[in-house]
Amino acid sequence: MSRHNEWILILDYGSQFTQLIARRLREFNIYCEIHPYNVDLKEVSKPVPKGIILAGSPKSVNDTDAPHLQTEIKEWGVPILGVCYGLQLLAHTEIPGSVEKAEKREFGRAHLIIDEEGGLLKDVDDQAVVWMSHGDHIKELPSSYKIIAHTNNASVAAVRHTEEQIYGVQFHPEVAHTACGKQILHNFAFDICGLSGDWTASSFIDEQIEAIREKVGNDKVLCALSGGVDSTVVATIIHKAIGDQLECVFVDNGLLRKGEFNEVLDLYIKDLKLPVRGVDASELFLSRLTGVSDPEKKRKIIGVSFIDVFEKEIGDDADFKYLAQGTLYPDVIESISFKGPSATIKSHHNVGGLPEKMKLDLIEPVRELFKDEVRDVGRELGIPEHFISRHPFPGPGLGIRVIGDLSKERLDLLRNADRIFIDELKDNGLYDEVWQALAVLLPVQSVGVMGDERTYEFTVALRAVTSIDGMTADWAHLPYEFLSHVSGRIINEVKGINRVVYDISSKPPATIEWE
Ligand code: XMP
Repeated sequence: MSRHNEWILILDYGSQFTQLIARRLREFNIYCEIHPYNVDLKEVSKPVPKGIILAGSPKSVNDTDAPHLQTEIKEWGVPILGVCYGLQLLAHTEIPGSVEKAEKREFGRAHLIIDEEGGLLKDVDDQAVVWMSHGDHIKELPSSYKIIAHTNNASVAAVRHTEEQIYGVQFHPEVAHTACGKQILHNFAFDICGLSGDWTASSFIDEQIEAIREKVGNDKVLCALSGGVDSTVVATIIHKAIGDQLECVFVDNGLLRKGEFNEVLDLYIKDLKLPVRGVDASELFLSRLTGVSDPEKKRKIIGVSFIDVFEKEIGDDADFKYLAQGTLYPDVIESISFKGPSATIKSHHNVGGLPEKMKLDLIEPVRELFKDEVRDVGRELGIPEHFISRHPFPGPGLGIRVIGDLSKERLDLLRNADRIFIDELKDNGLYDEVWQALAVLLPVQSVGVMGDERTYEFTVALRAVTSIDGMTADWAHLPYEFLSHVSGRIINEVKGINRVVYDISSKPPATIEWE
């Protein structure tokens, strides 16, 4: 889709912090995109970015397979900021061998001693705390660079090129521990690159509407609504752009939460006035999924079944040329990132394109946005707040929350337990305190006692996490009294469950979903 005119290119060399750079810049209303270091430069030159950031890497520039700098980008004449590996790469490209293994790996907080004020370091205090994480250091700085700050351990902490707009920092300005990091990125983006910070939810909507109109022409678009915020925002933008050339389908796949299909369909039709068809395909999905236990198999079957339903809905209407999806930026990053920590862990079924046979092109207007940004766009579009603040819900739904063999009975058990948990979170004012809450049905039966009877029933795990974008998460410290009350209700009210546990794992190393 269209790219905002004023933007910053972030080149990814595999560091786990690369995304944080993007997030920090976007907080300043600056549009930026992350691309792998070896991206085809033609892809990122329209329009040419106003600045480039070379991000960090777990590699050493001296490794034989070290990711390199495409030096042609220097010819664009736009400011460059190298961060950690990015800085070392700038030095190494000019003088091979100028970077070497440090005697002592530097990790953690350090104090910046400023040698030249202003510029990149404008309004940064002497002795400001910065966060270091590197095993190599620059032994010999090319003479075209000048040191503008050092630390007790690192003679080169920040540099500038003496003639060109090229800068580098050895520390990580993007992490929260570097308190002056925001100021440094702000200085780079506004003062050095000359950006104005004009990228807002409303400018985003206007740009997308224009791009969608241009792309779609007189053709028709099918939008698969999932009941979540992302696809709803997508459908609303497209509806604004092309009116009833859009048709939406909301599928009951038998894997939705209790009561969800009718509640959400109502909102689509009555509140948002979207042209939507509700399709009950639960039997199709369940007949294909019953007895399947492997998570990736479940995802594949669900993905294929969705496509089958969409194809049936389109029939032989040849005007349908596009399928709209609510793909988000973290999904995109996970699938393009260079050998980073984001190597594919689970296949998120809404990324990666459609099977050839469907012959539809994808429209993904929010694929450059993080979840919180999609929510801001949704508010700007007038979608009701209670809908905007819904927790994320995975495309494969409860299918990946019944661990092991799927069956209608197990799904119903989970639906009932889940409903109690979510209702109680809402009633106790805790729903908006957590990023996502869910119940998981475990394929484990255990012994219990109810009245005078011995029971041998299933276990439900409750999970609630806090997070900013779902990429990392911590388990939510919900009050014991609350958990005790929910556990009591589930065991008393859901026949077939006699044990409730609470998941206290963070991501990483665990993930949010159990499958
Ligand atoms: P994990 O479990 O990977 O989840 O920590 C991160 C976020 O992604 C959601 N998720 C999915 N969403 N299709 C989706 O559309 C999927 O297959 C899928 N798997 C996980 C998950 O709910 C969480 O918000």
